[in-house]
Amino acid sequence: MPASELSKKNIWSNQTIFILAAVGSAVGLGNIWKFPYITGENGGGAFVLVYLACVLLIGLPVLMAEISLGRRGGASPPEAMKNLALENKTSKLWWLLGLNGILAGILILSFYTVIAGWAVSYFYDSFIGEFKNISTTQATEHFSSLVSNPMQLLFWHTVIMLVTIIVVSKGLKSGIEKVITYMMPALLVLLLILFGYAMSITGFGQSLSFLFAPDFSKLTGQSVLIAMGHAFFTLSIGLGTMMVYGSYLSKKHSIVKASIWISFADTLVALVAGVIVFSIVFSNGLEPSSGPGLLFKTLPVAFGQMTGGWFFGTLFFGLVVIAAFSSAISLIEPAISWFIDRWQMSRKKASWALGVLIWLTGIGTVLSFNQWDEVYFLDGKTFFETLDFITTNIMLPLGALFIAIFFGWILTKQQITEELNLPDKMLKIFISTVKFIAPTAVLIVFVANLI
Ligand code: TRP
Repeated sequence: MPASELSKKNIWSNQTIFILAAVGSAVGLGNIWKFPYITGENGGGAFVLVYLACVLLIGLPVLMAEISLGRRGGASPPEAMKNLALENKTSKLWWLLGLNGILAGILILSFYTVIAGWAVSYFYDSFIGEFKNISTTQATEHFSSLVSNPMQLLFWHTVIMLVTIIVVSKGLKSGIEKVITYMMPALLVLLLILFGYAMSITGFGQSLSFLFAPDFSKLTGQSVLIAMGHAFFTLSIGLGTMMVYGSYLSKKHSIVKASIWISFADTLVALVAGVIVFSIVFSNGLEPSSGPGLLFKTLPVAFGQMTGGWFFGTLFFGLVVIAAFSSAISLIEPAISWFIDRWQMSRKKASWALGVLIWLTGIGTVLSFNQWDEVYFLDGKTFFETLDFITTNIMLPLGALFIAIFFGWILTKQQITEELNLPDKMLKIFISTVKFIAPTAVLIVFVANLI
């Protein structure tokens, strides 16, 4: 399908819907589940500071670049890159940038749905009243008993995968646009309620100093790499998600405005979630570095003690599930759009084919928490940890690096101006960030980690 036809068929109804969908993609397990636990594992404040710097100095510029490339290329990531390479008379090999993203999307989604499955399971447990007056020890046991049972994990993984396939096979617009309009504000309100609870418990102050008072002695080269990778993960960049979403964006909407909103909303949700989780951690003598289970070992304790905890808890886990869905869909969309515009598959066929592949890969993550918990793939990392590491800390930064290079070095100033309507001074700052700062930063972090 030619680019023009594809983009005519799928255009966001308006600017707000586009922003909401992009925020829906950005805000997900990355903010609520992953950010707190990796912050805990990497020592807190200094890590948060590096993450914030990466969002501002690399993430935001790359986000604008990625959406612009998508809109200008007007197709799935590999095809969009081909179109852009053609327009600028450079090597067609740039399509590999799109392919890298598609592979990363498949791999990320394979563990994303397993974790989303935990949230569904917690939604159910909260609904049936399991968390009433639950103690810290009981909450920890509750989590262990869930993840030690592969059949249970497989069951929820399958449910999430099925629903994701059904939604994406129907097309992006009708379902997801509507759900997100209500869900995002609701999620924020609930986070604020939980924030109020966090303020009322003893660990609040300690959580603020853990998150915001940097202790640079705790920072290692590896944690800088993780902070940078997470900046890409949480903003959904480097993979083609924002490229595809950009390809559905009309020329008349502002990419700059949308990108600022996306980064702001995404960062706010992560920080609020972090304060909540660590307030509970420090109030109850839990370990900040207890890994992927952190969210699930802490929040039930809060809900179990709160008035109205049953209601808020159930609603909260329900919203986490929906937040994960809006991200899951955006993880698979680059691959689907490629199967459609490059391989002429129907959307339905593409969705099911990819769904089965991702579901199968996900079994490795299911087993990582039980039968394979001592099977290591990449120096001491389980299957899940290996996938997470390779995608987030290698494939996404590489994707982002090449997006920045293409945008900064290959597009002309004229083309950039057509995509980003910025005052001249801002444009200059922006272009030099994308041209020099972002690629250099990514390269330095990479090389430093290799040595
Ligand atoms: N940003 C999402 C989160 O924080 C996950 C996600 C969706 C993603 N689409 C992506 C990550 C594209 C990287 C690239 O949960």
